[in-house]
Amino acid sequence: MSPARDDDRPGVFVVDDDSHLRTLIGSWVEAAGFRSVELDSGEACLAALPVETPAAVLLDLSMPGMGGAATLDRIRSHHRHLPVIVLTANKDVDTVVDLMRRGAYDFLPKPVDRTKLVTTLVNAMERHAMAMRLATLEREAAGRSIPGFVGASPAMRELYRQIDRVAASDISVYIHGESGTGKELVARAIHDRSGRGKSPFIALNCAAIPENLQESELFGHERGSFTGAAQRRVGCFEQVAGGTLFLDEVAELSPGAQSKLLRVLQQRTIQRVGSSQEIEVDFRLLAATHQDLSAAVRDGRFREDLFYRIVVFELELPPLRERAGDVELLARHFVAQAGKELAGREVTLSSEALAALERYGWPGNVRELQNVCQRAAVTCEGDSIVPADLPQRVCSAVAQPRWVASPEPAAPQVQPPAPIAAEGFRVEGLAPVIGHLAPDPDLLPSVGLEGGAAAALTLSGMERNAIVDALRRAGGNRARVSRELGIGRTTLYRKLKEYGIA
Ligand SMILES: Nc1ncnc2c1ncn2[C@@H]1O[C@H](COP(=O)(O)OP(=O)(O)OP(=O)(O)O)[C@@H](O)[C@H]1O
Ligand SMILES: [Mg+2]
Repeated sequence: MSPARDDDRPGVFVVDDDSHLRTLIGSWVEAAGFRSVELDSGEACLAALPVETPAAVLLDLSMPGMGGAATLDRIRSHHRHLPVIVLTANKDVDTVVDLMRRGAYDFLPKPVDRTKLVTTLVNAMERHAMAMRLATLEREAAGRSIPGFVGASPAMRELYRQIDRVAASDISVYIHGESGTGKELVARAIHDRSGRGKSPFIALNCAAIPENLQESELFGHERGSFTGAAQRRVGCFEQVAGGTLFLDEVAELSPGAQSKLLRVLQQRTIQRVGSSQEIEVDFRLLAATHQDLSAAVRDGRFREDLFYRIVVFELELPPLRERAGDVELLARHFVAQAGKELAGREVTLSSEALAALERYGWPGNVRELQNVCQRAAVTCEGDSIVPADLPQRVCSAVAQPRWVASPEPAAPQVQPPAPIAAEGFRVEGLAPVIGHLAPDPDLLPSVGLEGGAAAALTLSGMERNAIVDALRRAGGNRARVSRELGIGRTTLYRKLKEYGIA
């Protein structure tokens, strides 16, 4: 038995009254890279627990005094999730069922097979660590999320706050973010939480409507107003009747539709195509693009006056690769959901598959992750998704230094060509401190990033990048960074200054 002090290997309690077997199993545990804590009885095990919580317990079933089953019960009363593996010569089904019912993680028949013991131990510890991590993430997410949304990263929590804040008002909101980041989900959430939540929500993808039909789609038309207009048609502004109109890919509106949209935003009345009658309309406008709307203004493709009417409040959706911890939460959510709804069984994600998902850069963001998880949940052979169930592009992704997988967050895409209107205000998705955390190019090896470049970095380069990475994960919270990196705050401040990060 090795002392716990100054030894950061995970501890494993080996509880057996047979000293020979205890020492043998202890040596296997040590050889597997863990610290064995040998205890000769159930009573000794319970006495040791308040002093140290091990990563797992290997427990003999038949011992004089307090037997294995009673010890297991006592362990469970204080440590609900601690993996306990019971060793027993009794393979009788009732005994095994009873042990499982009492909460044993697994049981191993005696004589104990070394490989089987180590494999079971490693699996139990891994599963336990993962469950603990998930519980922490879920605890963090609880109460802060918005129905329909999964994600607890600092950027998403800020988004939930902004959605709540903006939903209460009736102002136009412009939602910006890469494809698949959840723009429509945000639009629906704003609608649901607003005073218009009981009225219709209409989403119109402007890019999907031919330019010559856009005006008719939005404002409606009278019969015979153009070739093919066989019937009168009521447009979206009338259909929405007090609800919310979400114009997706708004930059794709034709010049004609843009000028009519400006008019309806100013006057709250429309004219159907082919009619001069003014019809009052009641709506809230939400708009989105994945492109740079201010660039469209600069290029003369989008009206500047309309830009100001639309971008009264801006919500920026961060790409998935910048949402620390969210890939795991989203992936588990999508896998469980697809397992239940599409495959009709319970499907889980192995730690290897999760590691592959976390390495990948997700250019298609949440939608791509959702598709990958659904496909894997439906096609996987067992009830656990393994890397082979994932697409090749995901499996072959190598862990990239952050600055490759996620380019420095761009300056807010919507930069008004002139100072924004007095009523306007904008929201940045990420804390400003993260905005300019680019790696120092001088610290990159001259060979470039290929060929194991990360390993070829200088020591100070690696240290700087570890700090940059930790700051990103912690959303710029320096107290958390110093805790995570195990350095004092003064040291952290000194290093931030030294590396020009602050
Ligand atoms: N935070 C989230 N939690 C759970 N599901 C999400 C989240 N974000 C997005 N999704 C899901 O991902 C899919 C894509 O989201 P959505 O359609 O809102 O993206 P988008 O930004 O509008 O994409 P595009 O630019 O392609 O129109 C949807 O099925 C949505 O429900
Ligand atoms: Mg969309």
